[in-house]
Amino acid sequence: MADIAVQGAPGGVRFSPLASLSTLVDPGRTLIVTDRRIHALFGSAFPPCPIAFVPEGEAAKSWEVLGGLYRRLTDIRMDRDGLILAIGGGSISDLAGFAAHTWMRGIAFAAAPTTLLAMTDASLGGKNAIDFEGYKNVVGSFHQPEAVICDIETLRALDGAQFSSGMAEVVKHAVIDGEEYFSFLEATLSAAGGSGFNHESCSSAALRRMVADSQRVKLAIVARDPTEKGERRILNLGHTFGHAVEIVTGAPHGHAVSIGLRLACAYSVARGDMAEAAKARIESLLKGYGLPVRLSETASGAVADGGIRKAMARRIAEALVMDKKRSGGIVHFVIPRAIGEVSVERVAVGALAAFLEEVEL
Ligand SMILES: NC(=O)c1ccc[n+]([C@@H]2O[C@H](COP(=O)([O-])OP(=O)(O)OC[C@H]3O[C@@H](n4cnc5c(N)ncnc54)[C@H](O)[C@@H]3O)[C@@H](O)[C@H]2O)c1
Repeated sequence: MADIAVQGAPGGVRFSPLASLSTLVDPGRTLIVTDRRIHALFGSAFPPCPIAFVPEGEAAKSWEVLGGLYRRLTDIRMDRDGLILAIGGGSISDLAGFAAHTWMRGIAFAAAPTTLLAMTDASLGGKNAIDFEGYKNVVGSFHQPEAVICDIETLRALDGAQFSSGMAEVVKHAVIDGEEYFSFLEATLSAAGGSGFNHESCSSAALRRMVADSQRVKLAIVARDPTEKGERRILNLGHTFGHAVEIVTGAPHGHAVSIGLRLACAYSVARGDMAEAAKARIESLLKGYGLPVRLSETASGAVADGGIRKAMARRIAEALVMDKKRSGGIVHFVIPRAIGEVSVERVAVGALAAFLEEVEL
């Protein structure tokens, strides 16, 4: 897709206002996929292309919505030289990336992410998916975007919960990456007065560095393991417990990942693999960026009773059902050992369940 050739930035990422999309795409060969909220906020900067509107959030990632998108591609006679341009959050890039991968056996795909999660995570690395019959992300593919265009200023329109949800992945990337990125996040927080960080008032330079550093961390790992055969699993740090929290309590993904990250650190400390001081720094950074680290701090205020502990343990075991590599109740678990030191180990589900019985949730 020569019209959207990418220069410079790693993995084809560029920082540019949404209005620059008009100079990058050919309106006669491009379908924009977005939702009504994003269009109301930023539509005036969109290039003059046909638009497919999809439902907001996770509801976009359905078989029915995908079918509607194929119908639209048929109506506009999209051929193999076309481009699907996702403008929005991770749900839109997941849906649109899969549509691009499957339409005519694969057409070009580009993303202009407008949430922190999509800029730092979902729009990068080529994974896409829709949900099926209650199972999340089970129908999908790998389809690398031709370009990812990030307009940092769009992040100012997010609400606080959406922004902090993305911050969980940012903190995760810093834990994986090491001291320099982690202390930058600590310094940014203390410059804002400890817990007064606000993405509406945060400088563009600081926002941009967070996004760029997280992209660097993710893209470097993806480049070494594009189809998640090994090292890429490191990016699941905090997600084994996090997914269980998300499903059992209904907490937003990033909030659940934050609790999952603290639990992974606590598990590592309990095994003697991580110093308490490192865990305390991670926990304090998460809290400083407005993230819950305990169930009681989520919007649902879930109480960590025996029922919740069992439901979470059951959920972790159930996750194995969809894991092709399951064997003998073992999960690939990401162990944080220090800031900048993380490894993937095979851990018995029973050990995680026993830990959940004991730990402060
Ligand atoms: N493919 C991957 O590698 C990957 C990685 C992480 C997450 N994901 C997926 O990403 C999805 C979550 O994405 P998300 O957190 O970006 O949310 P989302 O896309 O599910 O929803 C975003 C919501 O915020 C609104 N919105 C978007 N940009 C806005 C802005 N700038 N200001 C105000 N409102 C705005 C949208 O209208 C929508 O209501 C999940 O489905 C998850 O599975 C995919």
